[in-house]
Amino acid sequence: MPRYDHNFILVITILYATILFIFPTSSSSLKIGETCSPDGNQCDAGLRCGTCPASGNTRPRCTRIQPISPTSKVNGLPFNRYSWLTTHNSYALSGSKSPSGSPVLGPANQEDDVASQLRNGVRGLMLDMYDFNNDIWMCHSFGGRCYNITAYQPTINVLREIQKFLEANPTEIVTIFIEDYVTSSDGLTRVFNAAGLTRYMFPLSRMPRDSGDWPLITDMVAQNQRLVVFTSKSAKEASEGVAYEWSFVVETQYGNEGQVAGSCRNRSESSALNTTSRSLVLQNYFSTNPNVTGACIDNSASLITMMNTCHQAAGSRWPNYIAVDFYQRSDGGGAPEAVDVANGYLTCGCPNIAYCRVNSTFGTCDIPILSPPPPAQLQPDRSFDGFGLGFAVHGAAQPQWFHLAIVTTLTSLICTSSSLTSAISWMLIGALTRNTNQLANLGEEAEGTFQAMLHL
Ligand SMILES: *[C@@H]1O[C@H](CO)[C@@H](O)[C@H](O)[C@H]1NC(C)=O
Ligand SMILES: *[C@@H]1O[C@H](CO)[C@@H](O)[C@H](O)[C@H]1NC(C)=O
Ligand SMILES: *[C@@H]1O[C@H](CO)[C@@H](O)[C@H](O)[C@H]1NC(C)=O
Ligand SMILES: *[C@@H]1O[C@H](CO)[C@@H](O)[C@H](O)[C@H]1NC(C)=O
Ligand SMILES: *[C@@H]1O[C@H](CO)[C@@H](O)[C@H](O)[C@H]1NC(C)=O
Repeated sequence: MPRYDHNFILVITILYATILFIFPTSSSSLKIGETCSPDGNQCDAGLRCGTCPASGNTRPRCTRIQPISPTSKVNGLPFNRYSWLTTHNSYALSGSKSPSGSPVLGPANQEDDVASQLRNGVRGLMLDMYDFNNDIWMCHSFGGRCYNITAYQPTINVLREIQKFLEANPTEIVTIFIEDYVTSSDGLTRVFNAAGLTRYMFPLSRMPRDSGDWPLITDMVAQNQRLVVFTSKSAKEASEGVAYEWSFVVETQYGNEGQVAGSCRNRSESSALNTTSRSLVLQNYFSTNPNVTGACIDNSASLITMMNTCHQAAGSRWPNYIAVDFYQRSDGGGAPEAVDVANGYLTCGCPNIAYCRVNSTFGTCDIPILSPPPPAQLQPDRSFDGFGLGFAVHGAAQPQWFHLAIVTTLTSLICTSSSLTSAISWMLIGALTRNTNQLANLGEEAEGTFQAMLHL
């Protein structure tokens, strides 16, 4: 064995290890279902690290929060041939403060703001609008009136987030469903004007009333008519030109009644679900009382099962909108997966948009051979506490061969060096190997050796 300058090698190694400890790489390399650490941002784009204790999944795993953009596979179909992830009470965020500064009375339905939802691929927004404070506000209220303690924020704030998104993303289309309590004259028109949204509105006159297809998505983009707005008040069609939702959309029952397995009914305002003169189908799937711990179950397998039930009830039509609470919560694929399934059937005749071939004929699918689920880590994240100095190692994506090379170097040092050098080397091996989770026992041994040294 050639003679190395041991101190030199040791210094280099310590430098490398220090860099690892101080700047843990926030790599993005973990796939759906892989275990992750909630405080690191290690999951691939479109995923987040989460648990679903209600279904027994207590170990953090990468779960999906974004659907696949259907137009990235099949562009140019009629608008009613796509499905969109939709948030129920999109504005009702946990931790909201009312105008008087106290927490808003009433439960949250979502965890991130509308701007963030749009970035994650949400394209349907359910917004409750009320007259309040000489303005229009987002409220979660009762009796058709908004109060200080039920007021979330002025509607214009949320509409401006939508305006910014449409401006920055010139091929995206957004739908707003207004639960409309506004009685002030031209109230909707004024607030949409003020937010700079009027110029994006898809005109009522172009909406198909009897079984017709909607215009092509590419046409809506070309004409910059990329904001579809529906109100729950029929009178607004005549007074402000805002489309009455149930003239164009059939909608399933919401709340617990809409979650009875095997049954899919219309909500009371909607025509029967198989009324094909309404070209759009909206599926609600959330509990009566928003339940952040239960949402990960609701948004998983049972959502897709219900989607199949509703597909039958709606006259073999897949939902164009899938509306949920806490859209980021699931056991894996979640609501984004349900949207991908619907988009697969709607756009290319495949059981998932992921299997659609770009620009191919309907029914041409690339269905992957099922592979076993990714292996879980050998043990839950065991962050090395950086020798108690307050920094931690999160190294899921460090190249493991590099660690092994260093471990080998250190081992050779141990064989030839003084006891202090070898103690430090053992410690580093411990840190690095626990980091890779592969040679954990060796790490424990190193720790033991170090403790023995200290006691000497
Ligand atoms: C499909 O083909 C058209 C040209 O025919 C092209 O403009 C488009 O980008 C292709 N891709 C998708 C996803 O439609
Ligand atoms: C609501 O809050 C505002 C701002 O704090 C306050 O001026 C107003 O008096 C409150 N209204 C009621 C009815 O409490
Ligand atoms: C829709 O559902 C309600 C019950 O919520 C029912 O009273 C109504 O008749 C239904 N409408 C149709 C057309 O089935
Ligand atoms: C539509 O659904 C209703 C139940 O809501 C059912 O009674 C009716 O037979 C269905 N119509 C058709 C044409 O399938
Ligand atoms: C919320 O969901 C969990 C898990 O399904 C359930 O155990 C709990 O009872 C639910 N809470 C409410 C208030 O419904």
